[in-house]
Amino acid sequence: MKIDRRDWLFICFVVVVAGIFLAISGSEKTRVVPDDEMHGIVYKTAYRSAPAPDSSIFRKAFFRPDKKGAETFCEPCHNLRGVPYPPGHPQKNRCLFCHKLKKKL
Ligand code: HEC
Ligand code: HEC
Repeated sequence: MKIDRRDWLFICFVVVVAGIFLAISGSEKTRVVPDDEMHGIVYKTAYRSAPAPDSSIFRKAFFRPDKKGAETFCEPCHNLRGVPYPPGHPQKNRCLFCHKLKKKL
């Protein structure tokens, strides 16, 4: 089989995507959002339209928590309570891209 230019482009593309994927999964040392009373509102908002525990596996598989809705609570409360950010903490929007919620389903 002859590997032409387009094949090489495709191979490079796959390698780059795999590399990005690894880089992202490797950096998942970021703290998860604690599942405590303080963060109850976050979980309640994110999972407010979650399928019932006895619903089909497909509904559960396709359910996505409402992260955008839940994120609106993070910063106001953290500021109000003076929760410190570590030095050099990244641009503080979209908290839940980095800080994962605990799995609820
Ligand atoms: C109602 C107040 C409140 C809201 C809303 C809130 N937090 Fe917090 N969070 C706190 C307080 C207070 C702490 C300090 C530690 C503690 O008491 O849990 C904290 C601690 C944390 C920590 C550190 C936990 C650890 O292991 O040290 C992370 C990460 C965090 N919050 C992320 C988030 C994210 C992300 C959101 C939004 C999706 C959020 N919080 C919303 C009050 C809140
Ligand atoms: C681009 C990724 C990213 C985003 C976005 C982000 N963080 Fe962080 N955050 C980190 C990293 C990395 C750390 C340091 C490692 C750790 O403690 O999890 C951290 C640390 C923290 C800590 C201190 C944890 C501890 O126990 O010392 C808190 C609290 C926190 N982040 C809250 C938030 C909140 C609230 C938001 C949204 C307003 C947010 N973060 C957005 C990556 C992020």
